Amino acid sequence: MKICCIGAGYVGGPTMAMIAKKCKDTKVTVVDLNQSRIDEWNSNELPVYEPGLLEVVQEARGKNLFFSTEIDDSIKEADIIFISVNTPTKQYGSGKGRAADLKFIELCARNIAKVGGGDKIVVEKSTVPVRTAQMVKEILSESDNGHNYQVLSNPEFLAEGTAITDLENPDRVLIGGDITTAGKKAVDTVVNLYAQWIDKDKIITTNLWSSELSKLTANAFLAQRISSINAISALCEATGADVDEVANAIGTDSRIGSKFLKSSVGFGGSCFQKDILNLSYLCKHFGLPEVATYWDQVVEMNNYQKDRFVQRIMDAMFNTVSGKSICIWGFAFKKDTNDARESPAIAVCSRLLEEQAKLKIYDPQVDYTTILSSLGLEKGDNRITFCESAIEAASETHAIALLTEWEEFRGADYGLIYSKMEKPAHFFDGRNLVDSKKVTDAGFTLSRIGKV
Ligand code: NAD
Ligand code: UDX
Repeated sequence: MKICCIGAGYVGGPTMAMIAKKCKDTKVTVVDLNQSRIDEWNSNELPVYEPGLLEVVQEARGKNLFFSTEIDDSIKEADIIFISVNTPTKQYGSGKGRAADLKFIELCARNIAKVGGGDKIVVEKSTVPVRTAQMVKEILSESDNGHNYQVLSNPEFLAEGTAITDLENPDRVLIGGDITTAGKKAVDTVVNLYAQWIDKDKIITTNLWSSELSKLTANAFLAQRISSINAISALCEATGADVDEVANAIGTDSRIGSKFLKSSVGFGGSCFQKDILNLSYLCKHFGLPEVATYWDQVVEMNNYQKDRFVQRIMDAMFNTVSGKSICIWGFAFKKDTNDARESPAIAVCSRLLEEQAKLKIYDPQVDYTTILSSLGLEKGDNRITFCESAIEAASETHAIALLTEWEEFRGADYGLIYSKMEKPAHFFDGRNLVDSKKVTDAGFTLSRIGKV
């Protein structure tokens, strides 16, 4: 069996590395247009930082796992093609700022139809709006190469930072296909691929549209929980309740459960906001404006939470940060990733810059070019200093804003850090990560989410 995966990003790279590790008889080739990304996948400086990923790649690379820019050759020889390209929020034309931009998916489908090479199973791995498979099928069927294509949906549920454990031991694998003999046969082929390391009772099969819609729905539900607890965090600050105590108290109810109740400066990442906006756009498209408004609130609450965090910084610092130096601890959207897409740090830093603050930024994995471009700034902007350590970033600043829950921030020497800062020194914990006693004993004024 030969697999081609189009798109060597945060999903394509780790997912295919795991398939190659677990299915030694399968040749897996991951292709991408981006030569430097492929070069990185072929080196030991992978483009994606993910605990345990390098070991998995090294185990299979050059044996049955390959990274290449020879897209057409790989498509031609494959039995199964996974499409794992990006589906960002559309930035132009109709649906701008809401709909998913499917141009990369469409290009892949056209390329598969053009290249040919025999009958194939084409799997949507990317997150796509429900009914996208119809578009892929139409493009493939327009081809006059005489081959048959079965289009399946197999959305990916891994979370960044825990991708390897999520892939090795997923809660479930979802595979949607046509309810026809040929459709069922294709679904079985992909089920048998995953069944090489995942229990069959964890592999759910559905029709195409249920599978596509389940992915958007899963992300919307997860994000909704964070916005719900973040909404309550504001009420906690107004009333003296403690949001972590509330989360613990409600999370022990087995009907609610304890996960995704960690109050924060807001959720980030490349998926949640994009997928909810897309879900809401779809609802409007299908004539369901009330349903669209319901889901929009999850994103609105998230924006409110980021604004509220900056407002708390302002309030604590005499309503002005102009000319003051603020240390930013963490820029990634969560720990254990080098991904800063839609990170709450972007909104927080942008607002602080608007208020004329100077920023000293430290993140253990996000490089400075990524930080600059996500803030829309040019190299050499003297309002920002990039630092090599947490202590260097905090030195001679008036406040620390902790935005990513990296473990090293939890164990920092707060006494030493406090001694190097301007006084009074503030600590704004956007993740409720640090031990409040240690930080206040060191001399800081501490402000946390959902606590007074
Ligand atoms: P990414 O931007 O990291 O990677 C996508 C890659 O596809 C890029 O390297 C790009 O160069 C390549 N590409 C685009 N068009 C191409 C083409 N025509 N031919 C060859 N290569 C092409 O994106 P990602 O984070 O891996 O996400 C991919 C998809 O998976 C998205 O739909 C996303 O919503 C979904 N998803 C992402 C995550 C996540 O945690 N990042 C989790 C689950 C699902
Ligand atoms: C998400 C989904 O979890 C995953 O299943 C899907 O495949 C891709 O999108 P990801 O974006 O990688 O994964 O990270 P996730 O762990 O979901 O965190 C998203 C954001 O929510 C992060 O900014 C995180 O810090 C924040 N978060 C998460 C909270 O603020 N509180 C929580 O309790 C959990």
